[in-house]
Amino acid sequence: MHVTTRTGTRSRTRLRLAGALAAALVAVGVAAGPAAQAGEGHGKPATLADLAERHGRYFGSATDNPELTDSAYTALLGSEFDMITPGNGMKWYATEPRQGVFDWSQGDEIVNLARKNHQRVRAHTLVWHSQLPGWLTDREWTAGELRAVLKKHIFAEARHYRGKVYSWDVVNEAFNEDGTYRDTVFYRTLGPDYIADALRWAHQADPHAKLYLNDYNIEAVGPKSDAYFALAKDLKARGVPLDGIGLQAHLALQYGYPTTLEDNLRRFSRLGLDTALTEVDVRMLLPADEAKLATQAQWYADMTKACLAVRRCVGITVWDYTDKYSWIPAFFPGQGAALPWDEQLAPKPAYFAIQEALGGR
Ligand code: G3I
Repeated sequence: MHVTTRTGTRSRTRLRLAGALAAALVAVGVAAGPAAQAGEGHGKPATLADLAERHGRYFGSATDNPELTDSAYTALLGSEFDMITPGNGMKWYATEPRQGVFDWSQGDEIVNLARKNHQRVRAHTLVWHSQLPGWLTDREWTAGELRAVLKKHIFAEARHYRGKVYSWDVVNEAFNEDGTYRDTVFYRTLGPDYIADALRWAHQADPHAKLYLNDYNIEAVGPKSDAYFALAKDLKARGVPLDGIGLQAHLALQYGYPTTLEDNLRRFSRLGLDTALTEVDVRMLLPADEAKLATQAQWYADMTKACLAVRRCVGITVWDYTDKYSWIPAFFPGQGAALPWDEQLAPKPAYFAIQEALGGR
């Protein structure tokens, strides 16, 4: 391995990490040919998707259109995962940039790539308070007007992707931390039943897509996940088409691991719902070091095991797979290193921990 002469804590840490990585690669047989180690037979190592499939689960990654010109990136994206989520390209600002004028180009690019790679798509997202087009946010709407706008958007998008996507995050991030409804243009104007309406319209437009509500900070049992539990129970009782709850799982080492994750997944399962970890990353205060990366690896393994332990936890998606394209550094300055592959697309301890949790070593 080529070693530069740069000094300082950061580069020393890098050297230690590089050494640990090299050792790990040898341990899993990458240098000597991983096929024999992975027991796959045909000269190919077991991917995270292969391993997850043995448990009847998927292992996915988010991606975004600008990254698709990076061929080393797309090679791994196409081979390691069996579920893909467009990180931005299916959001309202991208798909209906002018009222009634639809643009499917970004979503289509990702759906077509996924199809070429025999991957399914978790589509994201039909209704969200963020990344809305200006024409929608820049004016006041009556309830009647906004209801028609919302219905038209959902019908247009869900119909366009009918039969092409596995699931939809129909409503994203509908609750506050204390479990009250988030004050969005949809809630303010239409009241809480905009959620039931959105689910019904999405179901009419694409009867076979699994329909999810999706949010962050609902991994543990607590006020926000309780709100989803109560809402899901109510929607089920009313016959509203809801298939699953997506737990984004944007974790941060400095805030602790959600130790009640498995119990939480299980209570939704008992309600007759699928669950999925939909946007997983584990950020840390930079610089990364061996200890933080080891804790991060443990958290990825623990999340994976929690999902495997609950029958209706159907799969795990990381919010992109490499630190090269993570959203974290731009949103949380001084934090990062959140994903299982580093900025050079080399697997980190988290990758090996997931692999092991899936029974791959
Ligand atoms: O498209 C513009 C581009 O024209 C401009 O040059 C560039 C300069 O900043 O910005 C581009 O827009 C960015 C957009 O991503 C597309 O790349 C926005 O600034 C940026 O804020 C936006 O961030 C996205 C974020 O959602 C917005 O909240 C992230 O990529 C995306 O990963 C993230 O995803 C969300 C999920 O949808 C919901 N859960 C949380 C998750 C993380 O925030």
